[in-house]
Amino acid sequence: MKKLSVRDCDLKGKRVLLRADYNVPMDEHGNITAFMRIEESIPTLKYILDQGASLVILTHLGRPQGQRVSAMSVKPVAQVLERYFDIKVKFAEDPLAEETLALCQGLQPGEIVLCENLRFYPGEEANDDDFARKLARLGELYVNECFSVDHRSHASTVGIAKYLPTYIGLLLEKEINALTKVLENPDRPLVAIIGGAKVSDKIKILAKLLPIVDKLIIGGGMANTFLAAKGYNMQKSLVEEAKIGFAKEILDGAYADKIYLPVDVRAASDFSNDAVIKVVPVDAVPLNYQCLDIGEKTVAVFATALADAKTILWNGPMGVFEMSHFAAGTKDIAKIVGDADAYSVIGGGDSAAAVRSIGMEKGISHISTGGGASLKFLEGKELPGIAACLDKVGKD
Ligand code: 3PG
Repeated sequence: MKKLSVRDCDLKGKRVLLRADYNVPMDEHGNITAFMRIEESIPTLKYILDQGASLVILTHLGRPQGQRVSAMSVKPVAQVLERYFDIKVKFAEDPLAEETLALCQGLQPGEIVLCENLRFYPGEEANDDDFARKLARLGELYVNECFSVDHRSHASTVGIAKYLPTYIGLLLEKEINALTKVLENPDRPLVAIIGGAKVSDKIKILAKLLPIVDKLIIGGGMANTFLAAKGYNMQKSLVEEAKIGFAKEILDGAYADKIYLPVDVRAASDFSNDAVIKVVPVDAVPLNYQCLDIGEKTVAVFATALADAKTILWNGPMGVFEMSHFAAGTKDIAKIVGDADAYSVIGGGDSAAAVRSIGMEKGISHISTGGGASLKFLEGKELPGIAACLDKVGKD
């Protein structure tokens, strides 16, 4: 079901309540260290203000468990927002206070209020109805621009939608369109690259993707379990013994021909950037070594599998990219995906962080802002936050 977007409503003179996801990393001095989530929301904020509306913005940051934790205040976000707009962004310390309600009700078109971290209140994660109703008073309509939290049933993702007409934001619309295109209408061949540490995190996505992809590349730590299922001795590598049966089923199943596994690995004497490293075939992992990245021959095999791709979906890094000596596989794959003549989508979380941290985002068609949310979406689940937005009726 298509959803009504912020473009579908008349915003002139309205007070728009908007849920963003400014769950951004900060250093010990409270300086924001990655701006992507803020930057990605700016077109929507600009669009709303340009229509003659005012804005009240809600977000969470971190997991303060319903307590006021000063290190998790979102106040620094207000200063960053001010860089994009030629006005002072007002900050509301307590979104539930009567004075915040008065502040919001007195907003003039073009003005912005940012409210303090919603997760300072237990009502947010509990989806408390009274909490949602009080927040809803701050606006006249609601815009959901928090794809990366829409897999959570919280007051700000589903609760407020009971009290205000709720529209999807421009970024949320972009996320839905990109991920839906991959799942429902991909140009073929469609090649998925699935990595990350554990098979157990990816079982549902593998089950969803296997029937619809043309090729499935498996890398990262989770490849170890598949290689173990093929009978290789992975030594001290992370292998999920309990998932070897599942891996065998896939490798022996109807879609076996679609699967590409590593042929060589970067094996380390220790889980450390200073470990002794040997690049070896998968059947020759040295005694007591652990595989922390894919090797060059594997990159070549994966490159060949990707050569004719018209759509690429990537979720999960190829190795422990946070350690520079084990980032090569992820970097190489990022370059191949970026250079490919294909529509490419990166599921958020670690793979997006990996691509950004090594500056390889150029050439990627869409990098999702959601980690857990994009995984759930790709598993084929309807996210509760999206379900709560108004349906488009009688159009398209
Ligand atoms: C994220 O960073 O993935 C989102 O902001 C959701 O955060 P959460 O996992 O703490 O709900």
